[in-house]
Amino acid sequence: MVKIVFSVIGLLACLFIRTKEGSAYLLDPDCAVSRIRGKIMGGRDTDILSNPWMVLVIAPTLETGVKFCGGSLITYRFVLTAAHCIKDGPMKVRLGEYDNQYHMKDCSSGICIPRYFIVDVDRKMTHKEYNGHKNDIGILRMSEIIPYSDFVRPICILIDEEMGNVPLFSVTGWGGTRTSDSSKVLQVATLENFDRNQCAESLQSEFDVGHICAGSYTSDSCNGDSGGPLSAVRTYEGHNRTFQYGIVSFGLHSCGGLGVYTNVTHFTGFILRVLEYLRNT
Ligand SMILES: *[C@@H]1O[C@H](CO)[C@@H](O)[C@H](O)[C@H]1NC(C)=O
Ligand SMILES: *[C@@H]1O[C@H](CO)[C@@H](O)[C@H](O)[C@H]1NC(C)=O
Repeated sequence: MVKIVFSVIGLLACLFIRTKEGSAYLLDPDCAVSRIRGKIMGGRDTDILSNPWMVLVIAPTLETGVKFCGGSLITYRFVLTAAHCIKDGPMKVRLGEYDNQYHMKDCSSGICIPRYFIVDVDRKMTHKEYNGHKNDIGILRMSEIIPYSDFVRPICILIDEEMGNVPLFSVTGWGGTRTSDSSKVLQVATLENFDRNQCAESLQSEFDVGHICAGSYTSDSCNGDSGGPLSAVRTYEGHNRTFQYGIVSFGLHSCGGLGVYTNVTHFTGFILRVLEYLRNT
């Protein structure tokens, strides 16, 4: 089924190529801005309002019944995640979630947000050349349009511009939600941007421009569910905003060491084509 869909996309892709050229733009101009006290969203800030794009991706599996992944809200209807997080069968996403315990409100430092909500996924796409470690990117379309708030807001994706190299990234996740020792509150870790060769050496595999290697030799925190965003704050048109650079793919990202991330900049063409296609079907 997925293969059929993709051959259709292949045929149609040429019709959907964006003609906009030369100037960079944001996939969603309302990304990563907050109306609360000019607050910067994201970065190393771990408080309750700082990662409103974080999504918990829920997929059915035969082995364990359910598989959890991270994901990021990129527009009012779409979630970016890793291809390996996308499964056959009905999938769901959970938004507006900070603390994944079952209670009615999430509170931290005196600020409470309404309880998370769950939305069905109605379409899903994985990269047609995904093969385990390459092109580990996929997109989920939600069955309804998501209203933005201070608790639910997309991360920035920059189109048509190289984002340049940053020395440090943030990675967020509920960490190990596949197991019973999952952390209940969203965790944030700071990771260094490493040369791809270091990942190649350490993970005994080959990587290319579609991969980002990042990690930490000092952090002992376990963070970053598969599919979740690797991000950094940068200035865009005079404002600091959080941009997504990578998607947690594989490696030792869970508890220190080096990990491999899908290079989002490399796949902006894929993202635009899928959004265009699913917008019309
Ligand atoms: C953006 O963040 C940097 C680093 O924290 C800070 O020095 C700068 O003043 C910020 N710029 C704006 C416009 O807030
Ligand atoms: C990510 O992809 C872009 C576009 O292909 C490329 O210019 C950039 O160097 C890549 N990043 C890394 C860390 O390789």
